Amino acid sequence: MALKLIEHGSKEYQQMINLRNDILRKPLGLRFTDEELAREAHDILIGAFDDDRILACCMLTAIDNEYVRLRQMAVHNSQQGKGIGATMMNFAENVARERGFRIMTMHARKTAAGFYEKLGYKIFGDEFEEVTIPHFEMHKKLR
Ligand SMILES: CC(C)(COP(=O)(O)OP(=O)(O)OC[C@H]1O[C@@H](n2cnc3c(N)ncnc32)[C@H](O)[C@@H]1OP(=O)(O)O)[C@@H](O)C(=O)NCCC(=O)NCCS
Repeated sequence: MALKLIEHGSKEYQQMINLRNDILRKPLGLRFTDEELAREAHDILIGAFDDDRILACCMLTAIDNEYVRLRQMAVHNSQQGKGIGATMMNFAENVARERGFRIMTMHARKTAAGFYEKLGYKIFGDEFEEVTIPHFEMHKKLR
């Protein structure tokens, strides 16, 4: 498996959108708008690949010089539970550290909160609803 940064608008980016649609949006009856995708040109886009096949992806959005937000974390259905998510999170945290960020934050789906807790993330505040399902804000100090 190779972990790499993805260029916005590239062939790998289209694979990433397809994976995010399949894992995160279609099951909720939702889809991405062109405006939403255009805004991602400024984000750090990350993918895990097996040769040309995308296995998992996530992205990082800077909030300010210290805080960075993890978004759109998705592992292909057939690849979940094999350690790929944890390995990609480690890669994403290293990328964030190298770029000088101090805190990783996210809106985590309630169903995935246990995954992030295992990686050292802490719930911050009360449960809330986003994209029709329950979420928690979670944080981790990167250094
Ligand atoms: C949640 C998700 C990102 C986890 O990735 P993954 O590759 O399946 O997880 P890993 O195999 O790396 O698991 C690492 C550890 O977390 C645990 N874990 C994985 N998913 C979990 C979950 N949903 N809840 C609690 N623990 C979980 C694993 O059992 C493993 O524990 P271990 O270290 O004790 O063996 C992935 O399953 C996924 O894409 N799910 C659907 C979409 C989603 O919910 N995305 C997150 C949006 S916030």
